[in-house]
Amino acid sequence: MDCCLIAGAAGGIGSRLAQRLAVEGRRLVLCGRNELALQALADSLLCDCKVMVVDLVQGTQVADLYKTLAEQDWHVDGMAHCVGSIALKPLHLLSEQEAREVFEVNYWSAFHLLKGFVQQRLAVRQPGAAVLTGSLVVNAGFPGHEAIASAKSALVGLMKSAAASYAAKGIRINCVLPGLTDTPLASRFLATDAAREKMAALNPLGRVGCADDIAAAQAFLLSSDAGWMTGQTLTVDGGQSGLMAPAVAVRPAS
Ligand SMILES: NC(=O)c1ccc[n+]([C@@H]2O[C@H](COP(=O)([O-])OP(=O)(O)OC[C@H]3O[C@@H](n4cnc5c(N)ncnc54)[C@H](OP(=O)(O)O)[C@@H]3O)[C@@H](O)[C@H]2O)c1
Repeated sequence: MDCCLIAGAAGGIGSRLAQRLAVEGRRLVLCGRNELALQALADSLLCDCKVMVVDLVQGTQVADLYKTLAEQDWHVDGMAHCVGSIALKPLHLLSEQEAREVFEVNYWSAFHLLKGFVQQRLAVRQPGAAVLTGSLVVNAGFPGHEAIASAKSALVGLMKSAAASYAAKGIRINCVLPGLTDTPLASRFLATDAAREKMAALNPLGRVGCADDIAAAQAFLLSSDAGWMTGQTLTVDGGQSGLMAPAVAVRPAS
């Protein structure tokens, strides 16, 4: 991979991925809505990078983004979708409007970005690698997660089918499923030491995730080390959604 578009680059996970890929010497396109935060990130990275301010739930804006990049000869061969939101409510309290908003941010942004990415790869007849970001709630039922679990499950369905459609063209598409990770998105669940300890105690590995846990998995899936992987979900959650093992001790991040 030479050049990677990171959507949601100013977020906790997106910015950590940008730092990892910059160290590897990739060129980066940093996308999101917050120009100041994106520019501050770009200024901190020692790599060739471009900031693009885009509302990623708007299909026309995402299509224009790829068109502009192509016109400027920035042909991205990697794409990471790190956009998301969280709104927890059980179904009997969840309005249709609230559920639609969760789908806009978590599913439709991925739809627009992935569609633009594969169109652009097909146009230049070149392979590529994309990684989407789901959630551990795809793997198991968590109370109050009806909207986000539905949107992230749709995202996984999109990933798998698109991976099948474009495998023969050398376009790999995979998905990381994070558990609770210490980023601005999760800040309200980790606001106090007591809350953080409670969340850590629910996790088999005894801690909350850090952004680099997720960025490392994304960077791997984008790299040639994952060159024989496509259509896969990679769960990075300390074992929370797959194991019946309760945490025995709370451990700091290593
Ligand atoms: N943190 C967790 O515990 C956790 C758990 C499971 C899954 N995830 C997933 O991990 C991914 C990254 O999340 P994070 O934890 O890094 O969250 P974050 O720090 O809040 O970052 C999310 C990013 O998404 C961007 N974004 C949201 N709506 C957008 C829009 N319409 N257009 C452009 N950008 C938009 C935000 O940019 P703005 O500055 O423009 O708002 C922000 O940079 C998400 O897919 C999330 O669902 C996170």
